[in-house]
Amino acid sequence: MIELRSVTKVHRQGPREINVLRGIDLSVGAGEFLTVMGPSGSGKSTILNLLGGLDVPTSGSILFRGRDLRQCSDRERSVVRRRFIGFVFQRFNLLPTLTAAENVALPLMLDGHGRSRALGRAHDALGRLRLSDRATHFPDALSGGEMQRVAIARALVTEPALVLCDEPTGSLDSAAGRQVLELLRALPEPDRRTVVMVTHDADAASLGDRMLTIRDGRVESESLLRGQYAVAASNA
Ligand SMILES: Nc1ncnc2c1ncn2[C@@H]1O[C@H](COP(=O)(O)OP(=O)(O)OP(=O)(O)O)[C@@H](O)[C@H]1O
Ligand SMILES: [Mg+2]
Repeated sequence: MIELRSVTKVHRQGPREINVLRGIDLSVGAGEFLTVMGPSGSGKSTILNLLGGLDVPTSGSILFRGRDLRQCSDRERSVVRRRFIGFVFQRFNLLPTLTAAENVALPLMLDGHGRSRALGRAHDALGRLRLSDRATHFPDALSGGEMQRVAIARALVTEPALVLCDEPTGSLDSAAGRQVLELLRALPEPDRRTVVMVTHDADAASLGDRMLTIRDGRVESESLLRGQYAVAASNA
């Protein structure tokens, strides 16, 4: 589905160079649920941004379905992002002046769908996240867990092939966090997707098919936890 090959990322701050990623090789399979852990500053969000085409590597390549994102123009990358990738941000990033349904419909409208069709699909997505009765609420009238579920509905409404989540439970209490995780883990068709989730929470990370630990811009360890990927490893 998506692959990083020998990816490095260097940030320059004046005369100083910060080696944020020091050579990442990572391949995420279609349908896989991959979790990523690691200390603060180790490069997790940077990896997610690269996977999502929000940033470009200093060296190395990123292949999305076999296509090298580095060789795409900014415009082509933004089309890939809009059509095929859903982002769930740590702080929800909902627009306060739009209702829940309008927030969820927004990516479709930005992609040229008409308002009523977009809102129809937004209501379907909210329904699958058990939020139908919150569709006309504004974000400030939603709980943290509800806002995060709206943000997930917004990430899923375009039926993206790949969903990238940056600490989706970071600002929730443990009960709301649990609910969001179970939901991401057990999404019904057609919302079951390839998911890459960055988390600080070991319990959350253990829900993955595979878990990576990042340290100092490198993959420190990788463990297969379940599913076809774990079976493939034990047969190898
Ligand atoms: N635009 C930038 N300019 C300079 N340094 C940056 C920039 N963006 C990120 N960094 C540095 O890159 C390193 C990795 O950042 P990143 O956000 O990927 O870490 P992270 O693992 O997601 O951390 P956290 O768990 O705190 O979210 C950090 O040391 C950060 O300071
Ligand atoms: Mg981060």
